[in-house]
Amino acid sequence: MKYKSLLILLFILPFCSASAQSSIDRRVDSLLSLMTVDEKVGQLVQYSGTSAQRKTLVRQGRIGSFLNVLGANSTREVQRIAVEESRLRIPLLFGFDVIHGYRTTFPIPLATACSWDIALIEKAERIAATEATAAGVHWTFSPMVDIARDPRWGRIAEGAGEDPYLGSAVAAARVRGFQGPNLRSPTSLLACAKHFAAYGGAEGGRDYNTVDISERTLREIYLPPFKAAVDAGAGSLMCSFNEIAGMPSSANRTLLTDILRGEWKFDGFVVSDWNSIGELLQHGVAADLKEAAVLGLKAGVDMDMEADAYHNHLAAALREDRITGSELDEAVRRVLRAKFQLGLFENPYRNCDIGRERRDILTPEHREAARKTAQRSIVLLKNQNNLLPLRKDLKTLAIIGPLADDKESTLGPWHAMGKPEDVIPVLGGIKAKLGSGTKVLFTRGCEIEKPSMSGFTEALDIARQADVVVVVVGESGQMSGEAESRSNIGLPGSQEDLVRALQGTGKPVVVILMNGRPLAFEWIAENVPSIVETWFLGVETGNAIADVLFGDYNPSGKLTTSFPRVTGQVPVYYNHKNTGRPPVDSVKWTSKYLDLKNSPLYPFGYGLSYTTFSYSQLALSAKTLKPAENLIVSVTVKNTGNRSGEEIVQLYARDEVANVTRPSRELKGFQKISLAPGESKRVHFVLTPENLKFYDRDMKWTVEPGRFSLYVGPNSAEGLETGFHYSAQ
Ligand code: BGC
Repeated sequence: MKYKSLLILLFILPFCSASAQSSIDRRVDSLLSLMTVDEKVGQLVQYSGTSAQRKTLVRQGRIGSFLNVLGANSTREVQRIAVEESRLRIPLLFGFDVIHGYRTTFPIPLATACSWDIALIEKAERIAATEATAAGVHWTFSPMVDIARDPRWGRIAEGAGEDPYLGSAVAAARVRGFQGPNLRSPTSLLACAKHFAAYGGAEGGRDYNTVDISERTLREIYLPPFKAAVDAGAGSLMCSFNEIAGMPSSANRTLLTDILRGEWKFDGFVVSDWNSIGELLQHGVAADLKEAAVLGLKAGVDMDMEADAYHNHLAAALREDRITGSELDEAVRRVLRAKFQLGLFENPYRNCDIGRERRDILTPEHREAARKTAQRSIVLLKNQNNLLPLRKDLKTLAIIGPLADDKESTLGPWHAMGKPEDVIPVLGGIKAKLGSGTKVLFTRGCEIEKPSMSGFTEALDIARQADVVVVVVGESGQMSGEAESRSNIGLPGSQEDLVRALQGTGKPVVVILMNGRPLAFEWIAENVPSIVETWFLGVETGNAIADVLFGDYNPSGKLTTSFPRVTGQVPVYYNHKNTGRPPVDSVKWTSKYLDLKNSPLYPFGYGLSYTTFSYSQLALSAKTLKPAENLIVSVTVKNTGNRSGEEIVQLYARDEVANVTRPSRELKGFQKISLAPGESKRVHFVLTPENLKFYDRDMKWTVEPGRFSLYVGPNSAEGLETGFHYSAQ
């Protein structure tokens, strides 16, 4: 009887936001006091998909969460078993990978980061959350905030690129977008920053591979976006598959407990990656699954996704004193707290509303937001002699390429419930833009991956009839994402040959690239007049690309990853070290390749517009910065062309001399501004001593006195330069 009255108390305790946390903690503790060991372990167990056997386990209180159980009806059915048939009526938590939209597929995360538009990114995730919660989902395994410096790694598509400063801003925005102002709101989705940590540092860019980096690189490059996600209130984190310097993340107590909970005060919960606790056996740090379970729990992994390790072994491990009761309770507490924060105890069916599911998904407003996001994710890489934008009264336009009419690939990797039938492909978008006066000719020309030139004759034939040739080439949507590493990141199949042949016709050629990673295409960059990087833009692909091609939207995106000239140049990233022998073309004994220029094909931060911008009058509020002071960095940016446009103004700093080596440039600020033709704006950045800190020789987070150089400009390789001194007194 005791537990019944306590249960009633738990469910009716009034929820008052002022003391919300302590009230939740009280309710969690009351509930914990009622739970058997099996029920406690159950809260830490997550499985993908339901079955009759799993429903029985739900009834027994032995499963706390599912992934990949979707839809108002399906989630309601299992939730009903949990809250009506299990002893303690603890609601289930439903998780799903909502990576770039739920049904309204937005551009892949690498693309949206290229907008550098933090409000736009937040809005996109708000919409994703609205749709996913309408379909029963409580929790997304997103944002993926892994820094990626190696484009061979397929999961570069899921993150924000190579820079920790921009990556942090994007991570926080995505968390805010998913979670909304309050987790209890019906459209709030619990966020999960992943994969903790340094998953993108895989050797050779091969997915799941060993990571061996210094603590400094870990803390300065890979961890900041996670810290930003935690500071933005992310309710959960997912640990990564990889090891770092001998320690797999799922067993890494330094990472999951000392740094995450000790230093950062994270009070959410940690879920393993898929079977990553089980993989401790393959890593060779656990002899059997029970040992893996013990290592995982003790390190700080609260929930076991799919490994069966906690389900099968935690209770025995407790009996054998291999884990303590308080270690178990702490993990359960964290999971229960999230369920309370989401309001699931009061309203377990909060996301099982068939009406909302019909009403709130793929709405015209959501499509419109996807189109706007897609326009702003596009990066104009080259536009010789202003070939773009194209006139809308062209007589004949040839659209060629295996991706031109593709509705599947444009959804990109991890596209949740995105469906090809919802996609407007490039061909459809262009046709919708043009009147009947323009004849649009189309052929695929070749396949994406299979080498064959058999379609070239027709492609050349229609190209010769056209005023302009638009070639749409790149990767299939499944060539990036998880387990999609590539050793050669050139255009696959015969696509480059197709572009070369079309360029040979002498017709003006526009290359539209679709890809989930930076590609290496030096010949195209040198020879084709216009190149547009479109990544995978989702349901509004065709409309957004047509908007840019015909000038209804002036492109403003800038790269968030460096593009290599050839695969052998990777990793190539802008915030590299100077080395003792910085490359000099004419000097042999410097750090460079015999057969390659040292600069990337396109640098981080790079992107063109249909207008031009000038930078002038770079000024500082002082020549010296002291502790507790700010430095204001100001620059005038002018639109020197004849179209309105947006410019992403970037501030970089370099610590000239420190007691450890520092990167040659580091992003310290950015602003996206709009300028009418001829208009100028004064842009101001605030730089604080905190912005200049780094981990010194003794791993102390500090700023050292001395000279700093500053660069303000349109990308990481250009800009105006100035400098100042930081003085401790
Ligand atoms: C991926 C995670 C994902 C999980 C659940 C794993 O294979 O690494 O990113 O969230 O599966 O789908």
